[in-house]
Amino acid sequence: MLETMKWNESKPFDFKGKNFLQLSDFTTEEILYLLDVAVELKAMQKQGKPHPYLSGKVLGMIFEKSSTRTRVSFEVGMMQLGGQAIFLSSRDIQLGRGESISDTAKVLSRYVDGLMIRTFSHESIEEFAHHADVPIINGLTDLQHPTQVLADLLTILEHKGKLAGLKMCYIGDGNNNMAHSLIEGAIKVGMDISVASPSGYMPNQDIINNAQKIANQSGIILTITNDPIEAIQDADVIVTDVWTSMGQEAETEKRLQAFQSFQVNDELCKHAKSDFIFLHCLPAHRGEEVTADIIDGLHSVVFDEAENRLHAQKAILKEFLQK
Ligand code: CP
Ligand code: NVA
Repeated sequence: MLETMKWNESKPFDFKGKNFLQLSDFTTEEILYLLDVAVELKAMQKQGKPHPYLSGKVLGMIFEKSSTRTRVSFEVGMMQLGGQAIFLSSRDIQLGRGESISDTAKVLSRYVDGLMIRTFSHESIEEFAHHADVPIINGLTDLQHPTQVLADLLTILEHKGKLAGLKMCYIGDGNNNMAHSLIEGAIKVGMDISVASPSGYMPNQDIINNAQKIANQSGIILTITNDPIEAIQDADVIVTDVWTSMGQEAETEKRLQAFQSFQVNDELCKHAKSDFIFLHCLPAHRGEEVTADIIDGLHSVVFDEAENRLHAQKAILKEFLQK
């Protein structure tokens, strides 16, 4: 066991009736516990041990945006846990033709045991959670991508053997789902985090303020800057994300200009620790936010990170859907 707790000795946390909308809703201990469950489930899967904790359960998955990793990892995760998943594209359900979120949430709650939702505004997923009688899991909103960051923390834990005491740095669009969830996740597990973004693309002020409060209490350093060299100095973990997120395609040209000095490349990474690891939630644009040398190089752990979506989400599914 790494620095986390042994989940199978006792069950210290009860997530029944809760939603998984953002990491700031959970304590440090709850996040470490979910990581511990993920480690155990990953070991079971690798050893070929059946783990049908969700036998007979069904997850509904509503997608209002495209997805490769989230869709497939949730679907495969449910199968490996002995349950099933139903893919619901908003193009094909009445939600896409204007049926209200409240009616959709109430109706689907009569059929399924949990709902994973990928949507645009974070308020929409909060509205789903308000009206649903089953757990809602955030599969990405414009504000947050918490299941991805749980997988990122698992990946860092595997590669570095610890979380607390490390320095993470995020370079690029600070006002996006990944930056926000990384700030919340890093602060909760005791990692210093620096974010470097151009003016106009800084992280959400409420998220910064909340993170700063936790950082002040626990002695963690949160840095928000316009200077990528300052941010990456002595970093153990380097993360970036696309410059143009889903739904922002009309701003692509403007963003290419704004972010050009925020590329993760060899020159910039020289300022990090020599054994840094590189993460990217994918999909990536080689030659834009990151060079091929870095994302395809020795420091990159992006495919372990993608795999860990499966294991981290199985932990969430097991803990939130099991009755
Ligand atoms: N990282 C991630 O969420 O990928 P998808 O958009 O393919 O689901
Ligand atoms: N920030 C990206 C993440 C994709 C997984 C987006 O929202 O498009």
